[in-house]
Amino acid sequence: MDEQREQAVTDEVVASFADTEDERLKEIVGSLTRHLHAFAQEVRLTQEEWAAGIGFLTRVGHMTDDRRQEFILLSDVLGLSMLTVGINAPDSPEATPSTVFGPYFVEGAPEVELGGDIAFGAKGNPCWVTGSVHGVDGSPVAGAHIEVWEADEDGFYDVQYEGDRTAGRGRLTADDEGRYRFWSVLPSAYGIPDDGPVGDLLAATSRSPMRPSHLHFKVDAPGYRTLITHIFVSGDPYLGSDAVFGVKDSLITDFPEHPAGAAPDGRAIDGPWNSVNFDIVLEKA
Ligand code: BEZ
Ligand code: FE
Repeated sequence: MDEQREQAVTDEVVASFADTEDERLKEIVGSLTRHLHAFAQEVRLTQEEWAAGIGFLTRVGHMTDDRRQEFILLSDVLGLSMLTVGINAPDSPEATPSTVFGPYFVEGAPEVELGGDIAFGAKGNPCWVTGSVHGVDGSPVAGAHIEVWEADEDGFYDVQYEGDRTAGRGRLTADDEGRYRFWSVLPSAYGIPDDGPVGDLLAATSRSPMRPSHLHFKVDAPGYRTLITHIFVSGDPYLGSDAVFGVKDSLITDFPEHPAGAAPDGRAIDGPWNSVNFDIVLEKA
């Protein structure tokens, strides 16, 4: 096919959407068609490669169920998730940046008192987490809802273990001055699930499945945009090669280690422990 005949195929497909009533849908399917066709033309896609691509997407679909979302994982490793986060970023530069949600959030995590422990037996160095929630105008967000979740020292979330134990996650409510505090464990680096087609893609392209250690936050309060983010442990060796491109410099945070002894809340700790402070700034809805 020469260039003109290839262009005629693209034009015909785009034109086939002309009667789409929803203008936004029309824009999306038209643009998707043009970009998909441009991609096939750019790489001069062979029949065998087209079939391999269909086979790959079929495996992604078969791998996906209630507990495993291989399509989101594919979006994550292709950077589409982070690109979408960026496109929809808050307008105010002072607002805390968002990053990928990931597949390990669980609705209905246990409610934990301020100062309580979200580890629930998760393995790792104890970690004292403090911070505040403010709006971009500096006013405290009293009663903000904070959900946190993290991997244990072996790099696994509770939902990756057999059984239905809840550990390393919890829900807290900020106090009247928007402050929060809780115990957790020092998060660890881990590999994203790589036993499916996305893992095969990473292996075939010599990419690592590793994510740098991080603690997830979902913060919401009436009148404010929900924030989905995480803080990364400074010094982590994977900060420059996150498999899902989620690292933003302003989210890299110190988690200093302290010797055994009395913690800030008076708790006596018989081994080393860490601490971190994370002040959160929300944009108005
Ligand atoms: C996570 O941080 O939990 C995550 C994000 C994207 C893919 C896999 C895991
Ligand atoms: Fe994570």
